[in-house]
Amino acid sequence: MNLVDAARNAREKAYAPYSQFKVGAAIRAESGTVFCGVNVENVAYPEGTCAEAGAIAAMVLGGDSKIAEVAVIADSPAPVPPCGGCRQKLAEFAEMDVKVTLATTRGEVLETTVGALLPGAFGAGHLVNTPDNKA
Ligand code: THU
Repeated sequence: MNLVDAARNAREKAYAPYSQFKVGAAIRAESGTVFCGVNVENVAYPEGTCAEAGAIAAMVLGGDSKIAEVAVIADSPAPVPPCGGCRQKLAEFAEMDVKVTLATTRGEVLETTVGALLPGAFGAGHLVNTPDNKA
């Protein structure tokens, strides 16, 4: 399935009673399986989670760990880029050249990459004093 269509279908189920801003995300894993997520808000506002985070959680539960492609969709005058936290979350599971399609329900599409969204990403290579990577 087209990844933007998958994100659009998922978005219908978003739980956004506070912002009314429904977001859908779809990830195609390297295995080819498509995983979707939606934003899930909470009355304690900072506890809400983004659509991208939901899609990543679904991917991990599904047994995949490498992102091949991402699509995000919302009803906005312009394509909505992932928030800073979601950029970091995506970078954990994606190469920098992975395509990210930002779409609007009004038909606008903007293509970018994980690396363009988060240049100079903080990565596992920066952790020097962890058990797996001693200084
Ligand atoms: N949101 C996402 O789910 N993904 C994004 O890329 C941008 C923002 C959500 C968080 C919150 O539920 C609502 O959109 C308004 O910020």
